[in-house]
Amino acid sequence: MSAHQTEIRDFEDLFVYGLEAVYDMELKLVDALDEMSETATNDNLSKGFAVHRTETETQVQSVEAAFEALGREPTRRDNRIVDGLLAEREQFDASVTGDTLLNTYYLNAAMKTERLEISSYEELLMTAEKANLGADVTEPLRGNLEQESKTLRKLQALAGGADRRTLWSRLTGT
Ligand SMILES: [Fe+2]
Repeated sequence: MSAHQTEIRDFEDLFVYGLEAVYDMELKLVDALDEMSETATNDNLSKGFAVHRTETETQVQSVEAAFEALGREPTRRDNRIVDGLLAEREQFDASVTGDTLLNTYYLNAAMKTERLEISSYEELLMTAEKANLGADVTEPLRGNLEQESKTLRKLQALAGGADRRTLWSRLTGT
């Protein structure tokens, strides 16, 4: 049992438990997006990661605003799902040879991460409703959810949807 172990007795406790993991997730993603922006060799991807890094810094502040609206100090709880995604990427980085493979993996990893973020915010908002939390708590999180959804749509457009040739040409510049 870690020193940080908290007892979850009601929906507000459950909400805070989730919020702490989301706070850790966003903070870890600020650094990860920086690295991905530098490592990706495709311009569209690299710029996209840089833009989303700046957005993610704002998302960190929105999560802090939710903590503050609850009268709590922003606290991180190790998000092991994000740790797993980041460990997967490190392993990939050490193994890949070739730009197209690298960019393709990064685009897919980014979409996977957005889906995780979307799912995490949806879960938080559902729990907030059960805990009867106010708009001052939920609105900043709803804003983040909208931003993540928009980012996923942009990444999907970059992937060209069902048309994999679009993905190929964007990643190889041909
Ligand atoms: Fe995010």
